[in-house]
Amino acid sequence: MTLDDIIAKRVSRRTLLRGAAAGALAVSLKGRAAFARQDSASTLAFSEIEHGIDDNHHIARGYSAQVLLRWGDPIVKDAPAFDPAKQTASAQERQFGYNCDFIAFMPLPLGSGASDHGLLCVNHEYTDMALMFPEQRYTQELAAIEMAAHGHSVVEIKKAGGKWTPVTAGKCNRRITADTRIRISGPAAGHERLKTKADPSGREVRGTIANCAGGTTPWGTVLSGEENTPFYFGGQKLPARETANYKRLGTGDDLKFGWLKYHDRFNIDKEPLESNRFGWVVEIDPYDPRSTPVKRTALGRFRHEGAATVVNKDGRVVVYMGDDGIFEFIYKFVTATNFDPVRRAANMNLLDDGTLYAARFLDDGRLQWLPLVHGEGELTAANGFHDQGDVVIEARRAASLAGATPMDRPEDVEPDPVTGRVYAALTNNAARSFINTDAANPRSSNSGGHIIEMIPPGGAGRDADHAALDFTWDFFIIAGDPDEDRTLYGKSLSRNGWFACPDNVAFDAKGRIWIATDQGGWQSSFKTGDGLYAADVSGDGRAVTKFFYRVPVGAELCGPCFTPDSKTLFVAVQHPGEGSDFASPATRWPDFRENLPPRPSVVAITKNDGGDIGS
Ligand code: FEO
Ligand code: CA
Ligand code: CA
Repeated sequence: MTLDDIIAKRVSRRTLLRGAAAGALAVSLKGRAAFARQDSASTLAFSEIEHGIDDNHHIARGYSAQVLLRWGDPIVKDAPAFDPAKQTASAQERQFGYNCDFIAFMPLPLGSGASDHGLLCVNHEYTDMALMFPEQRYTQELAAIEMAAHGHSVVEIKKAGGKWTPVTAGKCNRRITADTRIRISGPAAGHERLKTKADPSGREVRGTIANCAGGTTPWGTVLSGEENTPFYFGGQKLPARETANYKRLGTGDDLKFGWLKYHDRFNIDKEPLESNRFGWVVEIDPYDPRSTPVKRTALGRFRHEGAATVVNKDGRVVVYMGDDGIFEFIYKFVTATNFDPVRRAANMNLLDDGTLYAARFLDDGRLQWLPLVHGEGELTAANGFHDQGDVVIEARRAASLAGATPMDRPEDVEPDPVTGRVYAALTNNAARSFINTDAANPRSSNSGGHIIEMIPPGGAGRDADHAALDFTWDFFIIAGDPDEDRTLYGKSLSRNGWFACPDNVAFDAKGRIWIATDQGGWQSSFKTGDGLYAADVSGDGRAVTKFFYRVPVGAELCGPCFTPDSKTLFVAVQHPGEGSDFASPATRWPDFRENLPPRPSVVAITKNDGGDIGS
């Protein structure tokens, strides 16, 4: 079946299922795109910006983009000012980390719903020494700086006179790094495969790394996804018991950091099981600066992107997750017990008990959630699964055996709070060939990526049953340049409205989707920098994306996050200038000062007239 056949079939099914007009969708065949002028039916009222690549960021007219927190900014009392020529690990431990990704705005005080005062909780995914420092000689101190620039920041922020400022004396401000003490809980806690020389209990680990996207919980904690953890582990002698596990995650053949030179725990030959202690979702209580973060192993171990939660209509909590690898899976976790809206403490271990599922997409539009439960189906001792700990440690292999559908790099998987439908961003997959395309991943050499809509039964919004085993699915957008590829957008897309490589997504209070892109090495072929696009999810403006914000050359956009009043949108500009070096960076954004390299930063976007974002 060709892509056009598949799309035609899906579109007619949509017509049957929801009575929508098939004419509301524009299926473009290569070279036959029809762009509209700016007269689209979108409810998003801003004027679009243009595609392009340069060294600065660009925001739609009538909006301001204020740089709020830059790599190296002091975030705790007594932290030294940023100086890349004299950076130390001790300074970095007290400064904002590198490569900001996920952002959560947590109102102050807790539960107040405030929109002008809160804790900004930000992931720091990885470091890039070539861009960070003039001196490139790898030393123990440099490794320590890298480790201190990873992890997470909690920073109190305040808005006054329309402008946001960090409160460096904030009581909750803290850095969590690759060295912070973290507890391990859930079915893999204390497991033989998590025990090391430094931690014979298998219940405590130093640090969190590769912190990519994440989520928040209804009880006011933050979830941080550990994504590309294999980059940090090297060695020759893979333990026999772990061969299939390490091969599947890429552990041992994907080393990109030099920490093992100074820390044996990153050397598989010396500490064979340390890597099993990474690749989890970490729960952080930002309101208690002394709290110990917890790795929640019940949610499975893979290359975690986000972890979006929703309280189901029956009171259980559902967490949607993507595993960012080509041909990897979409997951959800359903808690065993209910969320307690009154007693916060009663929810603090809710994520330790429940069921992990992986998604199977059927050709006929059905979606099945397959339980990854020890003893069920293929998840038995015969396949190396002796208990639920084994299942979560090797969640990828378990999901394969269960029959989940290999997807084109699942990143954020987020429920729309208004409609209850769930959107999965699939970034791209150049390795998908015409032999293994399927209904849900219909394009070979998928460079533009797509967004799938997953529809729970039960109805819209709070009626949606997110815990159900059977959903249906549809395409929302098949992305890329409609002039160059076969794509699927809403009708009346403008010339600057198309995008490629969806990554993080967020929803505004009206339930409209905001899509951040990460084109990676494809920026130059798509001839535009990454950025943020917004669209309606229903009505005539469905899937008509509009370009709102563009980031500097080399950067990807991450972490879109609205304040509860919809008047501020925080975004993370990650790896500006990537691919260049300190001596001649491709951009010096955001400072544009000689001798200062580009600095990954969080930006606060507001509307100049004080109105709602996108109104
Ligand atoms: Fe860290 Fe999948 O992006
Ligand atoms: Ca991402
Ligand atoms: Ca990405």
